[in-house]
Amino acid sequence: MLCKADDSAQPIHLDSMEGQIGPDVVDMRGLYKQAGVFSYDPGFANTAACQSAITYIDGEEGILLHRGYPIEQLCEKASFTDVAWLLSHGELPDARQKVRFEQGLMAEAHLHEQIRNFFNGFRRDSHPMAMLCGTLAGLSSFYGNQGADQRHRITPEEREMSTLRLVAKMPTLAAWVYRYSRGLPLIYPRPGLSYAENCLHMLFSMPEAPWAVNPVLARAFDRILILHADHGQNVSTSTVRTVGSTGVNPFACIAAGVAALWGPAHGGANEAVLDMLDEIGTVDGIPDFMNRVRNQKDGTRLMGFGHRVYKKLDPRAGLMRRICHEVLAELGMDHDPRLELALKLEETALNDEYFISRRLYPNVDFYSGIILRAMGIPSSMFTVFFAVARTAGWVAQWKEMLESRPGISRPRALYVGPTRRDVPPSYGVEG
Ligand code: CMC
Repeated sequence: MLCKADDSAQPIHLDSMEGQIGPDVVDMRGLYKQAGVFSYDPGFANTAACQSAITYIDGEEGILLHRGYPIEQLCEKASFTDVAWLLSHGELPDARQKVRFEQGLMAEAHLHEQIRNFFNGFRRDSHPMAMLCGTLAGLSSFYGNQGADQRHRITPEEREMSTLRLVAKMPTLAAWVYRYSRGLPLIYPRPGLSYAENCLHMLFSMPEAPWAVNPVLARAFDRILILHADHGQNVSTSTVRTVGSTGVNPFACIAAGVAALWGPAHGGANEAVLDMLDEIGTVDGIPDFMNRVRNQKDGTRLMGFGHRVYKKLDPRAGLMRRICHEVLAELGMDHDPRLELALKLEETALNDEYFISRRLYPNVDFYSGIILRAMGIPSSMFTVFFAVARTAGWVAQWKEMLESRPGISRPRALYVGPTRRDVPPSYGVEG
């Protein structure tokens, strides 16, 4: 039981709240009013910052549900665009909704021609995430607050339109980032191709030659997008919600999410996995590398392992491992030395006391980099395509946040700086 911080020792009444599944939650909203104290939870590991009906994660059991559907079933039976619709609308699309959504995505996949000019301002060797973040924020100037009402609130119609536009335009933007960095002609989306096929088409086709989709690779890419579509209140999603709570336009919110995703502890991890595999070299390098991880001296971590929420195998990691085998078999790369190294590294870690005692398991990023590299996508583009996929989740979470009208996000700090003091008389502008 909590008591007031003063001498009265009066009890404080905090209600508990029940979710549909998962542990109950203590409603802290009355804490300061009743007790005059705040809660301290750096990193928000014990704090639910919102109510959400989109994604449920049970980290202890390794369960991931989107709107109640297990990720394994969605990965097997649905397409990425079905999942994007599901996240935003709560149900899988029926046949009519599916056709209309896909037509809408196709119609909105083009970028304003002036956006080509944005790219000329970037160095060709800039990190693709820098270009994605910049150009995405720049889209605000074309599609920003056109649907805002007189009080500059984003109307429900604009919410729907922005959701569609963002999901539709991200692959084009992502592909153009890649094409610009290589000095290749920018390719337009092609009607008749699926979302995943269009991603590959805009990345790899050339104007002068016909391009045929490999259905195994396209389906694999579609499933990779599904596995990255949403993951609850992670850093980038919380960023999107926080920025969105100010009422700013959705392109700016998603650009903020992209910036958050860029970090190696979040979306940048699959790129870091490949760098790590390159650094280890061969299976002979594993013991030395593991020693460095265990020593914890130079901060070396086994990238693609560990998760803030999952204390059992990330369900996405098992699915990703399967896709990895399928793609490498299709490309005749079953004996890829990098895959062999990754498998051995995973096996070594899963049997190592350091990882067992800390409950560290492979996460979604451990195998995704190997698949994407095998498909010909350079590692600097991995996080860009993570962002393409996560846009489906970000816009759904942004919409849900606006519909719940939560007020502006504003955490507090436990202040540990100097108490009040005066600027020394000797300091400052003379006279
Ligand atoms: N390799 C070695 N040790 C690790 C690792 C790792 N990958 N992850 C955690 N640890 C250790 C850590 O050093 C600490 O040890 P000790 O208790 O002795 O100090 C203990 O495990 C707990 O770690 P933590 O950093 O407090 O745990 P966290 O929940 O804050 O970190 C994480 C989660 C994902 C940032 C971390 O596991 C990590 O850095 N992993 C590698 C990067 C990575 O793969 N990121 C992708 C995350 S999944 C993608 C997504 O969903 O966004």
